[in-house]
Amino acid sequence: MNRRFFAFALCFSSIFCVTFAQPTLIPAPQSLHMGTGTFEVPDLVEVAYGAPQLSPAADYLVESLRQEAALQAQALRSKAGAIVLALQKRGASGAYRLAITPEGIRLTGADPSAVTNGIATLRQLVLQYGRHLPLMTIDDSPRFSWRGFHLDVSRHFFTVPEVKRILDLMALYKLNRFHWHLTDDQGWRIEIKKYPLLTERGAWRVFNDQDTVCMRQAASTDDPSMLVPRDAERTRIVGPDTLYGGFYTQEQIRDIVAYARQRGIETIPEIDMPGHFLSAIEYYDGISCFPQVGWGEFFTTPLCPGKDKTLAFCRDVWDEVISLFPFEYVHIGGDEVLKDNWKRCPDCQRRIRDQHLKDEFELQAWFIHEMETYLNRHGRKMMGWDEILEGGLSRTATVTWWRTWVPEAPLEVTAQGNDVIFCPGSPMYFSQKEQKGNLRDVYDYDLQPAGMTAAQLRHIRGVQGNLWCEYIPTLDRAFYQYFPRVMALSELAWTQPSRKDYDDFVRRMTSHFSLLHRLGVLYHTPSLEGFYGINAFTSQGTLNATCADPSAIIRYTTDGSLPTGSSPRYTGPVVVDESTDFAIRLFQPDGRGGETVRAAFVKQGYLEPLANEPSGLEPGLRATWYDFRAFECDTLHRCPVRAVYPVEDVVIPTEVRGHIGLIVSGYLVVPTDGVYTFALKSDDGSLLKIDGNMVVDNDHPQSPHEEIGQQALRAGVHKIEVRYYDHNGGMLRLHVLDPEGHLLPPATIYRRTPITESNR
Ligand code: ACM
Ligand code: ZN
Repeated sequence: MNRRFFAFALCFSSIFCVTFAQPTLIPAPQSLHMGTGTFEVPDLVEVAYGAPQLSPAADYLVESLRQEAALQAQALRSKAGAIVLALQKRGASGAYRLAITPEGIRLTGADPSAVTNGIATLRQLVLQYGRHLPLMTIDDSPRFSWRGFHLDVSRHFFTVPEVKRILDLMALYKLNRFHWHLTDDQGWRIEIKKYPLLTERGAWRVFNDQDTVCMRQAASTDDPSMLVPRDAERTRIVGPDTLYGGFYTQEQIRDIVAYARQRGIETIPEIDMPGHFLSAIEYYDGISCFPQVGWGEFFTTPLCPGKDKTLAFCRDVWDEVISLFPFEYVHIGGDEVLKDNWKRCPDCQRRIRDQHLKDEFELQAWFIHEMETYLNRHGRKMMGWDEILEGGLSRTATVTWWRTWVPEAPLEVTAQGNDVIFCPGSPMYFSQKEQKGNLRDVYDYDLQPAGMTAAQLRHIRGVQGNLWCEYIPTLDRAFYQYFPRVMALSELAWTQPSRKDYDDFVRRMTSHFSLLHRLGVLYHTPSLEGFYGINAFTSQGTLNATCADPSAIIRYTTDGSLPTGSSPRYTGPVVVDESTDFAIRLFQPDGRGGETVRAAFVKQGYLEPLANEPSGLEPGLRATWYDFRAFECDTLHRCPVRAVYPVEDVVIPTEVRGHIGLIVSGYLVVPTDGVYTFALKSDDGSLLKIDGNMVVDNDHPQSPHEEIGQQALRAGVHKIEVRYYDHNGGMLRLHVLDPEGHLLPPATIYRRTPITESNR
């Protein structure tokens, strides 16, 4: 038994008995009542099931008990056994009851997938307590029916056993919809018998720029999880080239679909069209507008919706896909379509005329509707990314909302009476590097947005975490990106808001790290706390590093090198008298190195104020909007000015949209001498200068990211300048903390010169 999980208290009643602390379950169940005492799982566990529909679930439980708890187990068709799985007549969808009594374990649900939800709970209990299970009764049911996770296998390929491991882990956390992104420009991954070139050619590519980025990162961060595998399953030698790729045969697809189903997971295949289709278009003639196909600046040549051959090709593909996936939904993609060719293509233009369409957006909608009609006729419902709203949404399509910068999309979808799944890029794209605060952003995500009526809220089917694998070449890396955010997603999707408690979740999550170690799952160790990117001091600086994961080992260097397993171990505060650059790295107990963070401790003199009092200045700041199309703030001030606005804080004025270059400038009036802290968060890049000194450099194309810097300031008036740019709808926010760490309200610190006609 693993004693880490064994917490007990003694109680005295008529007999001397043991009461266990509450188990650390994720997601938190609806109701849990602890008994006293334990049920000892026997050496040979019989998993009995009365109803034949529960046979796959019983096999799944047997396999889990063998693999995760090294228990001997067997399934048998019977009403009696140490563990009994049973169907009950009534019960909400997905709801189960798990009763552990001195006589044994009884798990009931209204259908097999409800029983698999209970199996997830039982797996967690066995992982925590081993064979000595505390007595308890759990009555539990999900908040949402769609608890999704997504995997892109096109950009990097995951083998059948790897996909199954992901499914096992997701089932452990009661996620029940597997959105499988099977095709994209970089690789076609599903065998289509009618079009063999899709997998003979379309599944294989030369090593590309994304691989190069991964390999560089593997080298520069000493991270084997970023090494692009060159194993037999993912490489093929063709002439002088070693090609990367892989695909699933139809037999393998059926195997994975059944494996997922056994774990209560429905699999939703995505065949992304009409864009993201290069891996097919390159090998089949006559389905693009022109013979010349390839990459534009961001996206690839799409299908030609003007040609009947395209429609026939897509229907053929769907015919075979549908035959492999027996569930309600298939996903058609529909995202990020470059429509330039359509404007020049005679076939597309004829289609627009013949169908009385307004423009190329309506042409895309027409194509999507054609496909949807076909899918509906074959008994499937269609889903698409939120671009399928553009040009008109059908009455029946379900939308996966991803474009955080189109916040109105879920409102529009639900107002039209369609269902929506929330997977906004921020924070639900787990392919983004996990940043401080992301976990909470996922956990607390508002799935009851203001402005929706009760009828609209009923169209929110659930929530999903997405993993795009351009820069995720291995299973280890996939787990590192999924975990622990997927645990927060699990609780968001399953647990009623009234039962949620973030601090308690973090406590449970932390104890699950040991469980993940045992399962060999790499996870992102919670970021180190206690210091910033730039830490200013005037006499002595102190590095305080803490990590929420007690199993994490912290090592550091001060010579610029990457910490290794033999670098000094951090065991307590490190005091420095001179400027010092720390590299601080987390290691997991098995020695695997994780993230390295760099922290500069900078000995500074105080910046003297420009004046003691802000005379002649008025409250607020000045925001200047530039016409800016570059990707670094440096050159911003040389671009044409579009407008100037007075603002009260460091914000994007509401009028400013599209390609944004912004300089927010003015004066900072600080009340006392001391070291001030500046937390600058932006999507995309930003930087902060005080009196011309760079204090925060956050200047990268990125989703919302916070950098924090410090500066020693004398009391009085200092010049402040924030530069910012964005191209796709972003955010900007600055927090200023005083030397005691208290947030300073903007109204108390910002001043600007009056804005007049002459200085606009
Ligand atoms: C997407 O991220 N293009 C759906
Ligand atoms: Zn065309």
